[in-house]
Amino acid sequence: MEREGEKSAVVAVVTEPRFAQRYRDYLEKQQLLDWQHRVQKLRDGTVALPVLAGALAERHVRELRDRVAPGSTCMLTRLLHPLPSKKARVCSPAQRLCRELRRWAEDRGVAWSADLEAGVPRSWQRHGDLMLLGEDCFPAEPWRSLEPELWDAVASALGVRRLAKRGRVLPDGTRTPSVTLLLGDHGWVEHTDNGIRYTFDVTQCMFSFGNITEKLRVASLSCAGEVLVDLYAGIGYFTLPFLVHAGAAFVHACEWNPHAALALRKNLEINGVADRCQIHFGDNRKLQLSNTADRVNLGLIPSSQEGWPVACQVLRKDVGGILHIHQNVESFSGKNPQGIVPGERGSGRAGNVGGEMLSSAIRPEWESWAESAETQIASLLHQVHGKLWRTRILRVHPVKSYAPHVDHIVLDLECRPVL
Ligand SMILES: C[S@@+](CC[C@H](N)C(=O)[O-])C[C@H]1O[C@@H](n2cnc3c(N)ncnc32)[C@H](O)[C@@H]1O
Repeated sequence: MEREGEKSAVVAVVTEPRFAQRYRDYLEKQQLLDWQHRVQKLRDGTVALPVLAGALAERHVRELRDRVAPGSTCMLTRLLHPLPSKKARVCSPAQRLCRELRRWAEDRGVAWSADLEAGVPRSWQRHGDLMLLGEDCFPAEPWRSLEPELWDAVASALGVRRLAKRGRVLPDGTRTPSVTLLLGDHGWVEHTDNGIRYTFDVTQCMFSFGNITEKLRVASLSCAGEVLVDLYAGIGYFTLPFLVHAGAAFVHACEWNPHAALALRKNLEINGVADRCQIHFGDNRKLQLSNTADRVNLGLIPSSQEGWPVACQVLRKDVGGILHIHQNVESFSGKNPQGIVPGERGSGRAGNVGGEMLSSAIRPEWESWAESAETQIASLLHQVHGKLWRTRILRVHPVKSYAPHVDHIVLDLECRPVL
């Protein structure tokens, strides 16, 4: 799956200037360079090379650091203000689409107008032969009179067979996107990410593009022999990397959206890991499981707080384990340089995230949220297990910028019973 015409989620590999050319040659050879965006020098003097996030795998990061440029610092970041490359400025895919639709409309005797032009999409997501368009495109007027032939023309201009249009993610807890199919007879798509195949129905389930850095990090964890509970499994965004790459022995995956649970089942099967996962269909707050997990993933934003009691309940009583707690946190304390993953808590120095040394400082708002979460979890653990627990913040790191001044972050919290 690839994003086209979007400015908001450009992923880049960051390194020191002296390694930039070697990185560039390697990324170009691997067809990972994003030609739509310019290589940028960041404020801390490092160089960011935009890449095609969907094709980038953890092994590429390893190769860059270990083989291509030993001694280099290889980081992943999201460019909040990506700059279009010269090539992209000459004629963007959106401009090409506009030109072709104009020609198509005029061939049908329709006078091109500013209103028509305003409705032409400027961004979209490609899922194989299905293009998912943004919610503001082709508003009812003045485009309605050109439907349904319009959809064939758009599909042909974009080189796909199916078209769908996105609405807002419904605030109904299932994170269901309101997506309408415009052309084609079904919304099932498939794509491969870091060697894992995902299939899902775009009209029924959401896919989180922005979570690539966290998915790569999860994939690089070493979870051999561990039992994981994924409280918000969706179609398997984290369940699958934990099983396929991190080597988790078993995953209990909770999901209450029937469409996501169906896609998750298929994804476990096509990736050959169905025998190591049990899907718990329904509300995870009623989960009948306890004293089982070495690790719990709480991948729900804006907050997974409602899942904290059950996360404490499923942790192993004898040795405890690690919680990965996602949260959207508002901050107004100045910019985090290009959203680079920060270091260890409070240290302000480089930290080791996903096996990579990453620099920059943690925001105070993240830290105070993490401290408050730690206190609440310690008290929940006491209540649930009837004894004292020791908690320790291992890391706080950003996944993506969710909105202006709002960051999606993850807290890794170690929880151990006091013996
Ligand atoms: C954001 S989505 C999947 C997130 C995924 N971990 C990611 O970041 O890409 C969260 C999923 O949790 C499910 N969910 C939310 N609340 C739930 C609950 N109380 N019990 C079970 N599933 C829940 C939703 O249906 C949705 O599929």
